[in-house]
Amino acid sequence: MPNLRELLDFYAEAGVDTPLEDVPVNRFSQVEAKRTTTPLAASPQKAPATPSERMQSAPPAPPVVTKATVPDDAQIAMARQLASSAATLDELHAQLAAFDGCNLKFTAKNLVFADGNPHASIMFVGEAPGREEDLEGVPFIGRSGQLLDRMFAAIGLDRSSVYIANTIPWRPPGNRTPTPLETEICRPFFERQIELANPKLLVALGGPAAKALTDTTEGILRLRGNWKSHTTASGIEIPVMPTLHPAYLLRNSAQKRFAWRDFVSVKLRLRALTE
Ligand code: URA
Repeated sequence: MPNLRELLDFYAEAGVDTPLEDVPVNRFSQVEAKRTTTPLAASPQKAPATPSERMQSAPPAPPVVTKATVPDDAQIAMARQLASSAATLDELHAQLAAFDGCNLKFTAKNLVFADGNPHASIMFVGEAPGREEDLEGVPFIGRSGQLLDRMFAAIGLDRSSVYIANTIPWRPPGNRTPTPLETEICRPFFERQIELANPKLLVALGGPAAKALTDTTEGILRLRGNWKSHTTASGIEIPVMPTLHPAYLLRNSAQKRFAWRDFVSVKLRLRALTE
């Protein structure tokens, strides 16, 4: 008799912590089905004719997903139009909650919109919520968030003096990397969020946030520590400090000294702007 608790712990440790369906899916049979059907159309299944045939037939397999829901340009334009019509952060929050155009919404438990003070002079941006954030609907409350709180404290900040959000407001299942299309469909909302919060400084936590804010392809290890800028849709330029993500610092504590330098630079610039 297998120990189910141990099996579940094993899955959780391997990062499989999100059940996506109520019914188990046999991926091997899906691969087989895919091999034996033409790429354009699967041959129709013969319906069981009698009740006994029906009882013997296997439960219907979920459809073979050969293509993710791909937002096209029109959908991205619609998302942009929707986001730009939000006049306040509360309106934007409500629009995102009602928005069905990003498939991540359907596997996430909660929308993770923001935390902290929306009137703060400084906004910190991460990539996407993790497990704890998904459960609570609040960004950066897991282990990396606890480290981030200590980093705030080291430069005299806390959640009442900063605004925190992510480039993607729904957790990708199993913390996988968001696809470029997921990033694109969320981008209008994220950009409008910055515009409405109107911070004087932005801090990009990790490579994906730095990429989204500064439109660069350079890696975060080269990028960090150098001030860049983000231009909003209405043409306002906001200085951006790209730095290392706290989750990366938890795995590479020797790199904390670089993040410290970046935070000191942020502290000095913030002081110059607000004094
Ligand atoms: N990592 C992120 O980038 N964002 C969160 O909210 C939590 C972890």
